[in-house]
Amino acid sequence: MPEALKVNAARALDVEDLSVRYGTSTAVDGVTLAIDPGEVVALLGPSGCGKTTLLRVIAGFVRQAAGRVRVDGATIDHLPPNQRNIGIVFQNYALFPHMTVAENVAYGLRARGLKGPDVQARVSRFLETVQLGGFKERLPRQLSGGQQQRVALARALAIEPSILLLDEPFAALDRNLRLDMQIEIKRLQRTLGLTTILVTHDQDEAMSVADRIAVMHKGKVEQFDTPVAIYDQPQTLFVNGFIGTTNLMNGKVASLQNGTATVALDAGASLTLPAPAGVGIGAPVLMSVRPEQLSLSATPGPDAWKIEPGLALPIGAQLVHEARAADGTFLKIIEPRRAVLGETARTYCTLAADARPTLFPRST
Ligand SMILES: Nc1ncnc2c1ncn2[C@@H]1O[C@H](COP(=O)(O)OP(=O)(O)OP(=O)(O)O)[C@@H](O)[C@H]1O
Ligand SMILES: [Mg+2]
Repeated sequence: MPEALKVNAARALDVEDLSVRYGTSTAVDGVTLAIDPGEVVALLGPSGCGKTTLLRVIAGFVRQAAGRVRVDGATIDHLPPNQRNIGIVFQNYALFPHMTVAENVAYGLRARGLKGPDVQARVSRFLETVQLGGFKERLPRQLSGGQQQRVALARALAIEPSILLLDEPFAALDRNLRLDMQIEIKRLQRTLGLTTILVTHDQDEAMSVADRIAVMHKGKVEQFDTPVAIYDQPQTLFVNGFIGTTNLMNGKVASLQNGTATVALDAGASLTLPAPAGVGIGAPVLMSVRPEQLSLSATPGPDAWKIEPGLALPIGAQLVHEARAADGTFLKIIEPRRAVLGETARTYCTLAADARPTLFPRST
């Protein structure tokens, strides 16, 4: 990191009850996110759920129908993009094709009224930062995808923002370059103290880069939490299904006591689990359980259900079993690969010792 790089104080970013409409359709629907200074937040969600629109409002390119954006407590909604101290890397890089690399990086600086040698110095400095010092006079079409991506990053950083918005910046990169860029962005974000929102389609990327993840669905944030909490304690069926692999099993609440429910699974077992809010005795429920939270057993029992074993595929250090339960549910079960051969047939399935399945109310 060149010492001349200015370290901006990280700023808090507050999105409050924000809605955006295009004609009669609502692209962003009452989104609230309170982001801490220096935090990296990943926005995760299916295509069309409003991720880009949300970033464009924060950057000032799209006007909201309702709600506010605050930076360090002050509203910025009245400011045009060039008066917001926010760097953005667009989904498609959006480099100006007729401008050289240097002119592209200088663009935001000129839009902010900087002139002459100051501009040249900053352009050089940030192109060095992304390791493209020798590419100043090239046009975007003379660069690879990864190089264009780094120019877009240099352009966003050159204005010395306190907030960085990244819209799927790694989508077009191959695996190795992607990992390099993830590390590079994390390093720059730390060193420069940037509060960052990263839009991604990639769950693993969200899990590894972000301090917190906001999962969006149809314009709304369904859960805003740490990666571990999103994975282990999904609040909605959508979040549950969107993150990681899960098994869903039907059942009914047989009894309720002090916040725990005894659930009779249709597959034929009885389990005691934390009860979801608002379900009564007899209510139909869905149990979500991750493949690694199930285990196979040779012995029957009240909390074990009969299965018909299917394929077993070794994947790395793990063995992935497929099985079919008595009610027809197909299950995936992941276990550490064992050295033991010729074991007895394990035709029962049960919860692994530390399993924490989630119950959701099911509408019939
Ligand atoms: N300029 C526009 N005019 C009308 N509708 C738009 C406009 N931009 C986006 N939309 C609509 O708003 C919704 C949200 O779009 P947005 O681009 O924010 O989604 P996204 O989550 O970024 O999707 P992706 O993952 O595919 O990039 C979509 O239904 C889209 O069709
Ligand atoms: Mg988008």
